[in-house]
Amino acid sequence: MSDFFRLQKHIDELSAIGSKDGAVTRLGLSAEEQAARDLVGAWCDARGAKVRRDAAANLFARFPGERERDPIVLVGSHVDSVPEGGRFDGALGVICAIEAIESLLDVGTRFQRPVEVVAWADEEGARFGVGLFGSAAAFDRLPARIAERTDRNGISIADALRALGEKGDPAFAARDVREIAAYLELHIEQGPRLVQANRPLGVVSDIVGIVHGRVTVKGRADHAGATVMTARADALLGAAEMALALETAARSRESTVGTVGEISVRPGAKNVVPGESTFSIDVRAPDQARIDAVMADLRDAVKRVSEARGLETSIDVFNAVPPTPLDLTMRDLFARAAASIGVDAPVLSSGAGHDAQNPQLAGVPTGMLFIRSSGGSHTPRESAATVDAALGADALAFALRRLAG
Ligand code: GLV
Ligand code: MN
Ligand code: MN
Repeated sequence: MSDFFRLQKHIDELSAIGSKDGAVTRLGLSAEEQAARDLVGAWCDARGAKVRRDAAANLFARFPGERERDPIVLVGSHVDSVPEGGRFDGALGVICAIEAIESLLDVGTRFQRPVEVVAWADEEGARFGVGLFGSAAAFDRLPARIAERTDRNGISIADALRALGEKGDPAFAARDVREIAAYLELHIEQGPRLVQANRPLGVVSDIVGIVHGRVTVKGRADHAGATVMTARADALLGAAEMALALETAARSRESTVGTVGEISVRPGAKNVVPGESTFSIDVRAPDQARIDAVMADLRDAVKRVSEARGLETSIDVFNAVPPTPLDLTMRDLFARAAASIGVDAPVLSSGAGHDAQNPQLAGVPTGMLFIRSSGGSHTPRESAATVDAALGADALAFALRRLAG
């Protein structure tokens, strides 16, 4: 049984890192994310794990097994956050993984296979634009030349890794998937379905496919007073029309979403017609056909708006993760794990992306368990009850005992 007070203490301690006015900012490959890794590593070290960090800044804490050479069970989530995010997205999965293991060790469990806790680096991609970064590196699924991508301050992924003491090439993080028997991840649901169903836990059936990219719109900077409205090539207004076209494309398809979450304007002054605008795109759907259709609509709109407004536009798609059905055996295991503690856990699909996609897509049997959460997510309002987290840790402990115990 998990220890409620230890769990609460770990939630409080981890939430304090990068926290300001109740919001958590721990961007990928930042000093705050490293501080979170240090804390998590210290908890694991205190319980006898061997802790290491790989070339992509993922943290692994290995709890030994009787059969040290057997393929391991990997369990965890991420410790980075979006800017001004919540306390639970990712962090709770790492905390509950450790709680599950600690609760098993408390009662003298000896693992047969090694169990490794992982804290994936830069899952959110909020800083460099590439989500699921650390897990993609570990499962050899990184997009090409990714380490050259820069953040807003011109710091590249390679630079950020070097600042942490790594060599700067995340590709060296790739692991041999034959060493991994299974991957398990617990995560807050980030949506309302478990609250509505009045259930604390859910079993994830599949995870949406995601396209991440950036559109650059070039117009002509000019004087805001002297340039008549008919003589402008306003990059921002073109970008705005394109963003609205993305909304229309997503709204016209079921279970499909499209988001423009970042936009910048150059040169950026109130009395200058915008000469250039760059905006991000995030498109998600449960099947590839719908993602492809939205992207086709967006490309058409970009062409049409650019021609009508005299703009030059380019679309850079730098990451695409396909829709990912999770492993049926792991789904069944989590359903039994929940049942073992008296919870009838509904089966849910995930509209958020998760590191679990990378091991599953690389052929590692992967399962995910959702914890009831409220207040949405990627905002400080996001919330999960420690009693629900304790149930999640208990279910995870059941699954770990079956897979490794
Ligand atoms: C991660 O939280 C994502 O779904 O973008
Ligand atoms: Mn997450
Ligand atoms: Mn997130």
